[in-house]
Amino acid sequence: MTETVVDPPCAAATARRARGRPLKGLVLAGGKGSRLRPLTATGAKQLVPVANKPVLFYALDQLVDAGITEIGIVTGDTGAQVRAAVGDGSAFGARVTFLPQEAPLGLAHAIVTAEEFLGDVPFCMYLGDNFLKEGIERHADRFRADDCAAQILLKRVPNPAAFGVAVLDDEGQVRRLVEKPNEPISHLAVIGVYFFGPEIHAVTPLLVPSARGELEITDAIQGLIDAGKAVRSSTIEDDWIDTGKKDDMLEANRLVLATLAGRVEGTVDAESTLVGPVVVEAGADVRGSTVRGPAIIGAGTRLEDAYVGPFTAIGPGCDLVRCEIEHSIVLEGSTIRNVERRIADSLIGREVVVGRSPLKPQAIRLMLGDHSQVDVV
Ligand code: TTP
Repeated sequence: MTETVVDPPCAAATARRARGRPLKGLVLAGGKGSRLRPLTATGAKQLVPVANKPVLFYALDQLVDAGITEIGIVTGDTGAQVRAAVGDGSAFGARVTFLPQEAPLGLAHAIVTAEEFLGDVPFCMYLGDNFLKEGIERHADRFRADDCAAQILLKRVPNPAAFGVAVLDDEGQVRRLVEKPNEPISHLAVIGVYFFGPEIHAVTPLLVPSARGELEITDAIQGLIDAGKAVRSSTIEDDWIDTGKKDDMLEANRLVLATLAGRVEGTVDAESTLVGPVVVEAGADVRGSTVRGPAIIGAGTRLEDAYVGPFTAIGPGCDLVRCEIEHSIVLEGSTIRNVERRIADSLIGREVVVGRSPLKPQAIRLMLGDHSQVDVV
């Protein structure tokens, strides 16, 4: 039986936070990003935008909202980009320390990388590509008020074989973790937000690399359990998405846009129609176009004779002319012109050009990065 956490009133939460143990944050923004290629060939997957805001920023905001402002960010090959995007953390109300990881050697290896930064302070580890709609405040407050060695968050899923799952005892204590189980021993998937006490640092030196060559976080948590430490769980009702793949990014985008409030800061001419919640950022120019929300048109983007349909986020500095697009994410600086068929369910990277060519013979001409995917009708 897992404990259902009840939202405390704000003042009570603040008081509890003041009494409880302090927490640091550890955000993981390294890794290989192989499932999101080719975008991750040139960019950090944690910086792919959800409703025009990097997915990583939601994690940072949620940590700060939970009163966690001393944050370490583990970085990999894309560290320079992550640093440039996050800065010193002051824009989030946090103090950020960057922790380069020598190679993507696993989530538990990231804790080893951060050991000096963490010291003996308990911490919340948040995977920088995970998206939780409601945030972590309640869970952080609960962990602060407790003295358990770890607290993990679980989400009931219909397809446990795709996840690491937790087996609980009658009191909701975690007994066992199983990676991608063949038998449906539990439907409770372990999600990418974990709370650890300093006890974890006694376990990580004992870990050996798994078959995929990584120090696994499931092995580290199992090590705590085997050492007789208390590992608790909270089962969340909240929407949770591991944004590792294109369709997950689109789903996170859909969830955030579903709560969008419309706002027009750019210009929209008399021949254009905005339907439902639409954000037109400053400097965006919408002419002779229809935008059916929820949708965002990024700063400085131009729409001309275009249709932008629901659940679409067009990044800044894009140019969309005589084209139709819906349920998609377009990153900054991209151009879509004279495309007759409607584009849907797509994730388009930075400075991409999609257009119609007058050249003969008429053919589809492609210049695609490695691991690109094109579906032609
Ligand atoms: P994963 O999605 O599990 O791993 P990955 O980034 O290598 O992705 P893929 O499976 O597509 O190749 O990582 C979860 C988060 O943790 C993600 O934000 C990357 C980060 N990470 C690190 O910072 N260091 C690591 O050693 C690993 C494995 C992941």
